[in-house]
Formats: sequence, C-alpha cells, structure tokens
Amino acid sequence: MTEIVHVALGERAYDVHVGPGLLGRSGALIAPLLRRPRVVVVSDENVASLHLESLRNGLAINDISMESLVLPAGESTKSWPHLERTVGWLLDQKVERNDIVIALGGGVIGDLVGFAAAILRRGVRFVQVPTSLLAQVDSSVGGKTGINASHGKNLIGAFHQPSLVLADTDVLGTLNRRDYLSGYGEVVKYGLLGDSSFFQWLEAHGSSSAAGDIAARIAVVKRSVEMKAEIVVRDETEQGDRALLNLGHTFCHALEAATGYSDRLLHGEGVAIGCALAFELSARLGLCSQEEPSRVRAHLRDMSMKVDLADIEGQLPDANALTELMGQDKKVVDGQLRFVLARGIGDAFVTSDVPRDAVLDVLTEALKRR
Ligand code: GLY
Repeated sequence: MTEIVHVALGERAYDVHVGPGLLGRSGALIAPLLRRPRVVVVSDENVASLHLESLRNGLAINDISMESLVLPAGESTKSWPHLERTVGWLLDQKVERNDIVIALGGGVIGDLVGFAAAILRRGVRFVQVPTSLLAQVDSSVGGKTGINASHGKNLIGAFHQPSLVLADTDVLGTLNRRDYLSGYGEVVKYGLLGDSSFFQWLEAHGSSSAAGDIAARIAVVKRSVEMKAEIVVRDETEQGDRALLNLGHTFCHALEAATGYSDRLLHGEGVAIGCALAFELSARLGLCSQEEPSRVRAHLRDMSMKVDLADIEGQLPDANALTELMGQDKKVVDGQLRFVLARGIGDAFVTSDVPRDAVLDVLTEALKRR
C-alpha cells in the first residue's frame, strides 16, 4: 500500500514514502543510508509520547540504536535557544558528517531539526518523519528549513533537502479533527493552484479522508507530495514557480499576524481562508468567473472548515491595517506585494501587479460579512 514519490533533484534527490506502518519499517528503510547502525532523533513532547517508541522499535528490528532529544511542543521551539540546544546536543552525541539525524514531528520540529542538520559540521544528512498532515503534504518536502526571528517567521534558515521522508499515514489517526483540517487547507491549495481534477477528487473524497479512510488519506498525501515535488524540482530555491505554493499565503500571513499567531487561527486554516480570498480577488480583477470563488468556499464549507473572516473569533483590524500587515510579509520583492492569483481552479500564477485598492475592496467586503 506504500506509495513512493521521487523528488528528482539530481545529487540531492530523495524518495518520499507515503503509507501506513512506516514507523514499524523505519529500520529497513533507513538502514541503506547508514554507515554505522546508530541514529539520533529529535522530537517534541507531544509527538514523542505517541510515536517515539514505535520509531525505536522499528529501528531496532534492523539493529539500529537510537538516542533522542525531546523538545517542548509549539511554535516557540523554532527559535535560537532551541536551535542552540539541539546543535549542542547533536555535538554531545558526537554526530559525524556521515550520520543521519531524524526529525520526528510536525512542521516546527522538521524546520528546526533540518536547519540544525544544515549547519552542523557544514551539513549532515537528515530524515524527515512528519507526523502532522501539514508536515506530510508540505513542510517535510522541499528542503526549506529554519527558525523564526523576533522580526518575523522563518526569517533565518537554509535550503537543505532531506535524504528520505517517511510519511506514515497511520500517525494521522492521532491528530484531532481541527489539526487534520488545518493540514487539509494546504491540500486544497494544491488542487486550486495546479490540478483541477485533484480538486474535483477532493470535492468527492475529502470528507472520507477527514473521517479516517486510509486509502483516501494515502491518495491525499501522495498527490499533494507529487505536486510539491514537481514544483520544487522546477524551482528549488524559489526564484519563480515555487512561489505558486504560496497561494493563499499573503492573506494568511496578514491574518496570522492579526491574530497573534495564536490558536485563534491555525496556519492551514489561514491558508484555506487565504485561498478563498485569493480567488475572490481574482474574480474581482476579472481573471476568473465569480463561480470559482463560490466553488472554493462550497468545498471548504462541506469540510466544516474556516472559510471566511467571519469564522475567525474575536476582533480583527480594518482592511487598511490588514493590508499593511501583508506588506510585512517576507515574500515582498522590491517593496511590491506578490500575490498568487488564478484564472480558474487549477490555474494559478504569480504576479506583483495587483492594485492595492482591489485588495482593500476584497478585505472590506469580507469584513462586512462578519
Ligand atoms: N511551503 C512552501 C514551500 O515549501 O515553498
């Protein structure tokens, strides 16, 4: 039942395995990468309590020993102090250039540990074992690693591709529904940006994936990873096409900043709302018909996801202030806001040519619906 997606990046190429039971088979899958039968694993408290022993057992089948560091869960772990602690621990463990570091966790652990691996001894190999849907379909693939700065999220980092990704779909069974649906925001994004037939498939099968259907979950993760891999192979360091992956993210980052990066709005929820707004903006600019944003919204509603600004609890700033928050996004180039807009579902493109007034109008309308 395991699917393998190859990320064809030449000497940095690697496979993403997608399927059930991968933690139990981790020893067999990781052994070919090892020069000595020992790995170091970094995880967080929540994930470690659920999955660290399964990983240990899977590695032990192939006589691979494992040392682990368990960090606090949460976004604040993606910071200098925890990076310093992680790198110090890896040095204490006498990790050498030929060893493998394993990141067991969601996006925070994957980004932090990937960055630690990038800078340790000028680069050691690492394996991503993503445990959230968001990490399986997005952050574990493509080599973006890093930590947050007081100036903003993800501002310190490096491109460092993993040597292997093990996306065990069984672990998704331990996510609560809200976390699953937050990751699903990134899944919908792939259909919207480049594959209308995938979006159509999600309209039919997205609910069963959320309800726990394993075959649907494998299909969801596999197609998302395939799409991400295709884009990353075309544009590894985001000189062009990779920015398509930011569909919905310019609006999302403003909303995340406005809600203080808190539980009021999870990242994938912001992406889903941001995608709906990006389609609204595209329709307003005459790029696509009004039916397209309506169809995006209808699917998000069918999934019981957050769809609009009205679904965010508490106060929000006005349209002007939200637009200002967009201007602080790291994806601003030469002072120009970059948007991903769409000519239709599955047909997105990147542009800096968006009148500020159109953005303000879309946000003003959306705020009125609150
Ligand atoms: N998450 C967007 C990217 O990897 O480029």
